[in-house]
Amino acid sequence: MTKIAQIQFKPILGNINLNTANAEKLISKCNNSDIIILPELSDTAYNFPDRNYAIEVSHKVNENPFAKMLMNKSEEMNTCIISGICEKEGQYLFNSSIIVSKGKILGLYRKIHLFMNEKDIFEAGDGLLDIYKIGDIKIGMQICFDYLFPEPWRILAQKKADIIAHPSNLVTYNAFKVVPALSIMNKVFIATTNRIGTERDLNFAGKSFLCNPNGEIIAEASKLKEEIILSEIDFKLSRNKMITSRNHVFNDLRPDSYH
Ligand code: ACM
Repeated sequence: MTKIAQIQFKPILGNINLNTANAEKLISKCNNSDIIILPELSDTAYNFPDRNYAIEVSHKVNENPFAKMLMNKSEEMNTCIISGICEKEGQYLFNSSIIVSKGKILGLYRKIHLFMNEKDIFEAGDGLLDIYKIGDIKIGMQICFDYLFPEPWRILAQKKADIIAHPSNLVTYNAFKVVPALSIMNKVFIATTNRIGTERDLNFAGKSFLCNPNGEIIAEASKLKEEIILSEIDFKLSRNKMITSRNHVFNDLRPDSYH
């Protein structure tokens, strides 16, 4: 069984030192977890007043104290950590998810589908949909609003992802309708890790959750509280792509008939 920890907490806008210290304390509580997942933009928080402010409070990945803390903790705890971070690259910002394991950065995913005012702040990701292997489990990443666009989820599943980590800053409960459907349509686990709190005019929705490959929510956090949800999954369930004894999620696709 693979142990998954989802950390729902409240990053504070622009306060990367405080967010690093708070996240570090919470990560330390996830002893023996194989994969730890934090929300979108856990280092800087989310609702920047403008792009200049966002540039000021963000860092290049290799100079980001939050990313360094993730690397240190992953080495010390011999684990894999995935978190949303604000990634500065030259004059550009990306809303990214970083995956680290045993002290090293394995990769970054840059959010493709930008929500609302994110379009004033970030560049859209270029669509790198990589799979990362931790032991035998294969991990893909998507970020928050990406959930409304089914194509990358299918591609990650076709690339054999067992679980898709989904750091989020959800402000509605629509993901509860859509993410279970994405998990059953692709027969993958999905770990939607959300934040709590209010930032300027936005209230975040909490209720982080984990879906199994049957589209069932098997763990769920509360709406308002800081919380760590701990789950154990048999990731091999994602490798059975049969829907019925005669239907397979990929082999039954009929692209030639979609016109
Ligand atoms: C969102 O994509 N943070 C709503």
